[in-house]
Amino acid sequence: MLEKLMVVGGRPLRGTVQISGAKNSAIALIPAAVLAETSVTLDNLPHLSDVAIYTEILTDLGATIDWNEDRMTIDPSQMKPLAMPNGKVKKLRASYYLMGALLGRFGEATIGLPGGCNFEPRPIDLHIKGFEALGAVVSNENGALHIRAKELRGAKIYLDMASVGATINIMLAASRAKGLTTIENAAKEPEIIDVATLLNSMGAKIKGAGTDTIRIEGVSELHGCRHSIIPDRIQAGTYMIAAAATRGDVTVDNVIPKHLEALTAKLQEMGVHVYEMDESIRIVGQPIYESVDVKALIYPGFATDLQSPMSSLLCQAKGVSVLTDHVYSNRFKHIPELVRMGAKIRVEGRSAIIEGSQLSSAKVRATDLRAGAALVIAGLSVMTGGITEVSGVEFIDRGYENLVFNLSSLGAEVWRENEE
Ligand code: EPZ
Repeated sequence: MLEKLMVVGGRPLRGTVQISGAKNSAIALIPAAVLAETSVTLDNLPHLSDVAIYTEILTDLGATIDWNEDRMTIDPSQMKPLAMPNGKVKKLRASYYLMGALLGRFGEATIGLPGGCNFEPRPIDLHIKGFEALGAVVSNENGALHIRAKELRGAKIYLDMASVGATINIMLAASRAKGLTTIENAAKEPEIIDVATLLNSMGAKIKGAGTDTIRIEGVSELHGCRHSIIPDRIQAGTYMIAAAATRGDVTVDNVIPKHLEALTAKLQEMGVHVYEMDESIRIVGQPIYESVDVKALIYPGFATDLQSPMSSLLCQAKGVSVLTDHVYSNRFKHIPELVRMGAKIRVEGRSAIIEGSQLSSAKVRATDLRAGAALVIAGLSVMTGGITEVSGVEFIDRGYENLVFNLSSLGAEVWRENEE
């Protein structure tokens, strides 16, 4: 039964929220465990539907998984590279990481082409280019990629775009290739460092993760280990923006402030008071916000995943703000929904021109998880109160664990109801 989120406006968020492990790390670290011959334990795992789907997929491939609270132990020793052309892999865009992991461990993979968020077509041509450079033969048969390699050999790979997924997928396969692989123009997101840290704990030899050149000396075998996942910077940033939008006073705990530098700078530029501690950030909202221009870029620039939530906050700034996404060309599907709430926004190419305005509650629909977060923030920030109904909660559940519990503990009045 599909659900919707009922969000009461006008209540400032106050208190502390514990941030979970990073979704975009977890759904790369789980398939990375396939490369090991013995058990891998992951700590600080978030409870998200994407993580649950991945555990089902690995179990179908023969893994034994023990998942208790935020700790998961994966025994990959009995896994087989069974074909996964359809079914569960279609529910999860990041299922493509199975390609690099199965290719690295077994020399073969048959995985259905990814599904996932529907804000724009999301090609994986750079992933395929990397696999072919390592000596694999890749064919697309009936919507599934068949990848085979007699032997994986290190290669020099230049990424036309600093793709997060391609960087991680190539790193997975190259960790078991013979010889040296270098990835030039690699993505630098913290999640990439997190995957490289896990692989090195498994015995891989990876240097330079987090820079634009990553060197991977292939090894013949990888073993199990234990790894704690980095905090979810996007989840943290979303709560920071919600605190500012409701003029509240919220501390996000269990974060790495450096991962949120671009957002912190923008919030301060708007007039939000931000206090950084070692592992937490406190946001104190203010009555007046200045308009600012925001450019969503690859890391360490402003995160594209925070672009949608930020657009809801910018509705409250005096004057006109320009929000441009240089990563995705059409990640504005939430804008018409915000306009239904009274926002004054027009989209011109890659930019949203946002004029400050009073929002009012309405019935709106989420089309992807960050768009959903933006609509929840907009509903919370309707100063005149009223209930905003956000349909498509299943998208939001993919990226925000315990959303209702966390928002309620911060003083929000939110609850779930079945969709008619
Ligand atoms: C990751 O997606 C994240 N997902 C996304 O978060 C995030 O928005 C994105 O990185 C950018 O930071 C996961 O980590 C599971 P990309 P990914 O490859 O790896 C183009 C969320 O909300 N491209 O860095 O798919 C692509 O079309 C999700 O949590 C190619 O052209 O992103 C895009 O324009 C949404 N060919 C750009 O590169 C390729 O082979 C960046 O994509 C791959 C990508």
